[in-house]
Amino acid sequence: MSPVIARPAPEQDDDYAVTAEFYDVLQARQDSMRVERLYGGAVASARLGVLDVGAGTGRVTLMSLANSQVDVHAVEPSRAMRGPLMTRLASLPAELRARVTVHPEPLGEAGLRGVADVAVCHNVVACLSPASRRALWPAVAASLVPGGSLFLQLPPARVPGDDIVRVLPEQQVGRHHYGGRVTMSGAGDRIQTRFDYWVRAGAGVLRESTETFWMWPAWRAELVSDLAPYRFVPRTGVCDPDVLAMTLRGP
Ligand SMILES: C[S@@+](CC[C@H](N)C(=O)[O-])C[C@H]1O[C@@H](n2cnc3c(N)ncnc32)[C@H](O)[C@@H]1O
Repeated sequence: MSPVIARPAPEQDDDYAVTAEFYDVLQARQDSMRVERLYGGAVASARLGVLDVGAGTGRVTLMSLANSQVDVHAVEPSRAMRGPLMTRLASLPAELRARVTVHPEPLGEAGLRGVADVAVCHNVVACLSPASRRALWPAVAASLVPGGSLFLQLPPARVPGDDIVRVLPEQQVGRHHYGGRVTMSGAGDRIQTRFDYWVRAGAGVLRESTETFWMWPAWRAELVSDLAPYRFVPRTGVCDPDVLAMTLRGP
């Protein structure tokens, strides 16, 4: 029997076409510890569902499946990032996989209503222009139930004056070493973030790739006031400097 296609699969420009190959090998281990520290407790308290906005290759999604008993909604519009995410989910036991749904659209097009009491935006808001960022908030509010919480990793507060260069420690895969370097440069009111990747065998570089992203800085207070019209108020007693935590009030 041939499948019934309700609507064509959405195709997005794939900003992460280069990065997806290197993302996990260079960054996953460190970032897994970070997401556990930043959101592990909140996710464990979820009673309805967890929403992972911009799931990428699935670090928050996997942590949420492990730390909670509820349904998890992973929203990831980039096909390149969804590839590793789906591979990771495919390797899970069936009973864990039954709790996770992958939405391949931007959150605003996913049609999620009241599915979660915890939402996480990890390493996402910095990558959105102010207009795209503001367009996200009503969709996050609609996806949460009243009393639900939003946890978002804060973008850099300002455009850097001088370039900031961060080397991602090389990782060995068989006979090859994978490495990367991130360079953040100020460009007007935006931050140009260039990822340079390489694969080497011994002293010889086998291949190199580059991908450049834009980032937009934002202050904590600016995000709090952006979110206020959608009934979000700051959560009390949460003070991690990397995270903004908000609660959705009732209507
Ligand atoms: C820098 S990646 C971070 C991925 C993941 N959260 C992590 O930290 O590993 C940002 C992700 O946000 C996704 N994204 C961008 N706009 C989005 C939107 N409107 N709704 C959902 N995801 C979005 C991108 O496709 C991308 O995978």
